[in-house]
Amino acid sequence: MRTIDLRSDTTTRPVPAMRAAMAAAEVGDDVYREDPTINRLEEMTARITGKDASLFVSSGSMGNLISLYIEGGRGNEVLTHRESHIMLHEVGSPAAIAGVMPVGLDGSRGILDRRTIEAHLHPDDYTVSRATLIELENTKDGACYPIETLREIRACADEHQLKIHMDGARLFNAAVAQQQQISDICRYADSLSFCLSKGLGAPAGSMLCGSRSFIDQALKVRKMLGGGMRQIGILAAAGIYALEHHVERLAEDHAHAQQIAQALSQCSWASIDPELTETNIIFFDTPEVPSEQVVALLEKQGVLCFSTGWHTIRMVTHLDVSQEDTDRVVQVIKDLQVL
Ligand SMILES: Cc1ncc(COP(=O)(O)O)c(C=O)c1O
Repeated sequence: MRTIDLRSDTTTRPVPAMRAAMAAAEVGDDVYREDPTINRLEEMTARITGKDASLFVSSGSMGNLISLYIEGGRGNEVLTHRESHIMLHEVGSPAAIAGVMPVGLDGSRGILDRRTIEAHLHPDDYTVSRATLIELENTKDGACYPIETLREIRACADEHQLKIHMDGARLFNAAVAQQQQISDICRYADSLSFCLSKGLGAPAGSMLCGSRSFIDQALKVRKMLGGGMRQIGILAAAGIYALEHHVERLAEDHAHAQQIAQALSQCSWASIDPELTETNIIFFDTPEVPSEQVVALLEKQGVLCFSTGWHTIRMVTHLDVSQEDTDRVVQVIKDLQVL
C-alpha cells in the first residue's frame, strides 16, 4: 500500500527534471556573488515580485528573521497575528536574535485588519516600545489575505510610518487561488519572503525580496547569521525549475484539497465548511473523538496527517499527491469507521 503523505507540502521530493537541472547547474562562489545560477534566480524573483532586488536564503525562517532584524529594530514592536509562524514556530528568534518585541494581535482565521492594528497603536513616549513593523502571513494556514484588506493595511502603515513584511511561505498558492499576479500582492509589502521548498517542490531555500538598500543590508545580516553559502547554484537551479514549472499546477493541489474537504463535510465524525479551504491546506474538527484517534486510523489506511489540537486535524495537498491519491484519500475517509 502506497503511503499518501498529507502532513505538509514540505515533504515533496524533487522531480527527475528538477534533479537534472540541478546536476547541470553552472555554479560559482555565492559569498563572492559569483554564482551565475543564484544571480539568475535572484534577478528572476525580483522581476516576478516587482521588487528592486532579492536574495536567496536557506529557509523561510531565515528570511523572516533577517527582515525583522532590519526593519523591526531592537526594542521595537512588530505587530503580527498571535498565531503567526514567527510567533509560534520560529523558536523565539524574533526576540532572541532580532531583538524585537512581537505583539500578537487577534484576527479571524489568522488574518489581521486595519482596525485591529490601529487599536493597538499608541502615542510614542520614552517609556514605551514603538511599533515599527507589521508582519503578515499570506497564506495563513491556507487562508488568503483579501486584496482589499492588504490595501487598507498598507494605507494604515503609511499613515503611521510602519513597514510591512509579508511571510509569503505559500504566497504562490494565494496568487493562484486569487488569480492575481504575484507582484499585485507584493506591492503592499516593503519586504517579503517566499519558500521554494513548500508547494513549489524545491528541496531547499526561500527568497527574500525588497528594495535595493534592504537587500544590501540583508546580505550582511545573512552572513552574520551564518547563511553565506558557496556553490548553491545547484539549489538555485531547483528554484528556477520550480518557478518555471510548478506555479500554475498549484491549482491542482487546491482542487484536490477541495475534493477532500467535500468528502469530509459528508462524514458524521468530521466537521468542516469546505468553503474555508481556499488553497492546499484543509483543517477539520472531530468534535466527538480525539483527533489523535482519527489520525491513527487514517495512518493504518496509509494516509498521513497531523493533529493540530485535541479535536482538530490538518491535511495538506502538494506535488506528490496525485489525482489517484486524492481519490484514494476520499475513499478512505468515506469508509473510515470512527464512531
Ligand atoms: C507560514 C510559514 N512561514 C515560515 C515558515 C518557515 O519556513 P522554513 O521551514 O523554511 O524555515 C513556514 C514553514 O512551515 C511557514 O509555514
